[in-house]
Amino acid sequence: MLAGKHILLIIGGGIAAYKALDLIRRLRERGARVTPVLTQAGAQFVTPLSVSALAGVRVFADLFDLTAEAEMGHIELSRAADLIVVAPATADLMAKMAAGLAGDLASTLLLATDKRVLIAPAMNVRMWQHAATQRNLAQLLADGIAVVGPNAGDMACGEFGPGRMAEPLEIVAAVEGMLGRGPLAGRHVLVTSGPTHEPIDPVRYIANRSSGAQGTAIAAALRDLGARVTFVTGPATVPPPGGVDVVAVETAAQMRDAVLAALPADVAVFAAAVADWHVTAAAQKIKKQAGRLPVLELAENPDILAQVAQMGAGRPGLVVGFAAETEDVLAHATAKRARKGCDWILANDVSPATGIMGGAENAVTLITAAGAEDWPRMGKDAVARALALRIAQALG
Ligand code: C5P
Repeated sequence: MLAGKHILLIIGGGIAAYKALDLIRRLRERGARVTPVLTQAGAQFVTPLSVSALAGVRVFADLFDLTAEAEMGHIELSRAADLIVVAPATADLMAKMAAGLAGDLASTLLLATDKRVLIAPAMNVRMWQHAATQRNLAQLLADGIAVVGPNAGDMACGEFGPGRMAEPLEIVAAVEGMLGRGPLAGRHVLVTSGPTHEPIDPVRYIANRSSGAQGTAIAAALRDLGARVTFVTGPATVPPPGGVDVVAVETAAQMRDAVLAALPADVAVFAAAVADWHVTAAAQKIKKQAGRLPVLELAENPDILAQVAQMGAGRPGLVVGFAAETEDVLAHATAKRARKGCDWILANDVSPATGIMGGAENAVTLITAAGAEDWPRMGKDAVARALALRIAQALG
């Protein structure tokens, strides 16, 4: 799948560096050429000898290595590859990248490159959740850097949570996707995400608690499998993923128009929490009046999922909806699948006790024509990757 592709692999300093050895093997198995770069900290965890033995070439290690510079200058090194992969990407490397520092070979290569960059973060859960790291992550995403993982789970330091580096095969899938070799290469996928805001007057609106996290993760996972993704998003609280076509909307009516304008698509995933009603918005700010409460008259919004699922010509081959329920999840979601006419429904329980709406995890049941399938509770990223893989399988 990666024959003829050249990957520059930067190995940062973290316990997950041992997985980078397996990553080299997996990439080479698929025909890629791998040029490894070991940071000083990385060399504390894996040796240059094992890295170069697996890569089959010498390892580049220091910016001021004159022999290396004579063989291939760092600028050339940063541009000779088709893709740069940073695995593990430590908190320190992410901070350097976000700030544009270039004090060693790895950060210099990352600043000098004109190629796409994929990072696989790995660090202690508190370091990952620290405001500084999250701020750096947002900056990197805004800069168009692609991110795979981290996964939630047991960590080498004895804690539990997000911070584990993505598995080598997940990183390989992301690489294949970015190099147009993924199973969804050549496919156009439409994803809706986030809440909608329905104005009451020029300063007030009706909204809901959706963060857009699940839709964002789904768009990123589909992109990582090689799809061209159109991401139609309401005002979400998480930033949109890099490497997708973002269409930002506010209301349900705008979202419907954006969705119809984005067709045709091979697949459409409706993860947005679309408001069911809108208010006939007042042109001016509604004033307080002693003894009189304003009455908001609601009118129904278009059901975007139903409209697309039931269109004749031009209907996407696979239409996937969500059913966020607070009771009788399976019964309501099964009925919803039939009523809306979509192919698959991902049902989840969003009662406050589950912490799903606005949280990092999700527990879904996939309902298809073949029946219902419970997925274990996992991170929204993991749900997204599992869904993206199912979509790829369904499309063959
Ligand atoms: O009817 P309900 O809102 O529960 O349906 C949820 C599913 O329908 C989600 O996939 C959501 O994105 C989609 N939907 C939509 N347009 C609406 C309402 C819901 O696309 N107006």
